[in-house]
Amino acid sequence: MHLKVLDHPLVAHKLTHLRNVKTDSPTFRALVDELVTLLAYEATRGVRVTPVRITTPVAETEGVELADPKPLVVPILRAGLGMLGGMTRLMPTAEVGFVGMIRDEQTLQPFTYAERLPQDLSGRQCFVLDPMLATGGSLGGCVRFLADRKADDVTCVCLLAAPEGIERFRMLVDELQISTTLVVAAVDERLNELGYIVPGLGDAGDRLYGVVD
Ligand code: PRP
Ligand code: URA
Repeated sequence: MHLKVLDHPLVAHKLTHLRNVKTDSPTFRALVDELVTLLAYEATRGVRVTPVRITTPVAETEGVELADPKPLVVPILRAGLGMLGGMTRLMPTAEVGFVGMIRDEQTLQPFTYAERLPQDLSGRQCFVLDPMLATGGSLGGCVRFLADRKADDVTCVCLLAAPEGIERFRMLVDELQISTTLVVAAVDERLNELGYIVPGLGDAGDRLYGVVD
């Protein structure tokens, strides 16, 4: 697995505001959107393109366009949905698949409540979106769905990751033998006894969309 941690002052600045407990939901959503645009630039560095011949007002020239099959972007609901706009803004022709997961707050195991993905992902680049990689159970479960559909090239985009989760995720993708890149804005210190990232930003879904019982 290839890990890329974005080292950029603008990312650090926006993350600081995102982490702040005083940041309200509308500002939080806007910051996530801005951060994803910056992460997406790095995450799509290896996106496949194909040569294309075009005519400018002055001359004929060769350029590139996104190759077929088009990339698949997969937000993990709920919180990953907050990252979708920032990603598809950069790749408007990408298609979108959905995986809905909720982590049991006692066992920390993810439960999948929704899944809408193309059956065959062979030859297709997949971009998974989830702001938080804590224990790695949710992201790992999603990548397993993609591997089951023969995806062989996956890039995961997260805002924050815990070292424990990264290691667990690394072991899973090694076991699945799937080429994986993980792009994160920051690697935090650790998980606490409740499975939350420290210092983290709290519950990303709640901060984006409000608390559900
Ligand atoms: C959060 C987060 C990740 C998951 C991370 O989702 O968005 O999907 O927890 O934890 P893990 O790495 O230990 O699996 P949550 O289950 O709270 O659901 P939500 O997005 O609906 O709030
Ligand atoms: N899920 C979150 O939303 N935040 C954490 O810190 C851990 C899991």
